[in-house]
Amino acid sequence: MIESLGTPPVADHAKAPTWRHRHLLDVDQLDHAEIERCLGLAIEMRSLRDRGERLDLLRSQIVGLAFAEASTRTRVSFEVAAAALGAQVVDLPIEASSVTKGESLIDTLRTLERTGVGTIVLRHAASGAPYLAARSVGARVVNAGDGTHAHPTQALLDALTLRDALGTLEGKRVAIVGDIGHSRVARSNIHLLTALGATVRLVGPPAWVRGFEDWPGVSISHELEEGLRDADAVMALRVQLERDAGGGVPTLREYTARWGLDEERMALAARDAPLLHPGPTNEGVEITPELAASPRSLIGRQVSNGVAVRMAVLALLAS
Ligand code: NCD
Repeated sequence: MIESLGTPPVADHAKAPTWRHRHLLDVDQLDHAEIERCLGLAIEMRSLRDRGERLDLLRSQIVGLAFAEASTRTRVSFEVAAAALGAQVVDLPIEASSVTKGESLIDTLRTLERTGVGTIVLRHAASGAPYLAARSVGARVVNAGDGTHAHPTQALLDALTLRDALGTLEGKRVAIVGDIGHSRVARSNIHLLTALGATVRLVGPPAWVRGFEDWPGVSISHELEEGLRDADAVMALRVQLERDAGGGVPTLREYTARWGLDEERMALAARDAPLLHPGPTNEGVEITPELAASPRSLIGRQVSNGVAVRMAVLALLAS
């Protein structure tokens, strides 16, 4: 599959279906075969990296990072992924760009494009910003998280991490616990996990799980114990205080008392059920430091899978 992205042998090239997307805005644009192709390629990228091999699929291309919100994992892993594919990386933190002088976001992205940037990785607090960018600039756009809406590469890396642990997602019960209403991670995960055959339980205070009642494959629980019981995997989320999440619960202390995850509560889930968290974690709020460091925790694995998944996405979009 990897050869088919560069200069492939004719036979492989004929077999590989053309990648039909110019942008990655959310996982709901991908059909089942495309999700599998992306995850399969991520696994190949991971083995190549493990063997210390380099790939030059994006040689002479420029990837621009345009982040208008704080980020550690996503930004660094996109940068590492682009460099691992041989691309040049231009990092333009939006708070240090001419946006602060009054230039519009779109004009700023067009400036990136005019300097030769072919792929823009955009994170923005406004839901929908990458969609506007994709309509307004000629470069490829990858959504690295838009407001409360979507975070497609996070969902892909979560699915890869869950499959590593569970083998398959078909028929598995995944509990997502916490501030679901403000979470782009949860929204993209609901799409992807159900597309891969899992059922999803949304667990949290009523104000944070409202609006998901009619999603196929999704159930809702306001009681942590009920939501965790026999879950095959559990995903905790950060309380998004920067998105006014605090209004959904009386106090953070009360949230922690009723919905905070610790090792004892996790024992309600299936034996050895893995724990995921997209990070950054607020230890002592949504999970205890002991649980985050426990053998169940795949938080570190999520981060390293993030590089492989972003390599796969960048390579597929450029193919
Ligand atoms: C998430 C995000 O930014 O949406 N973090 C990440 O990308 N790993 C989750 C969060 O900030 O809580």
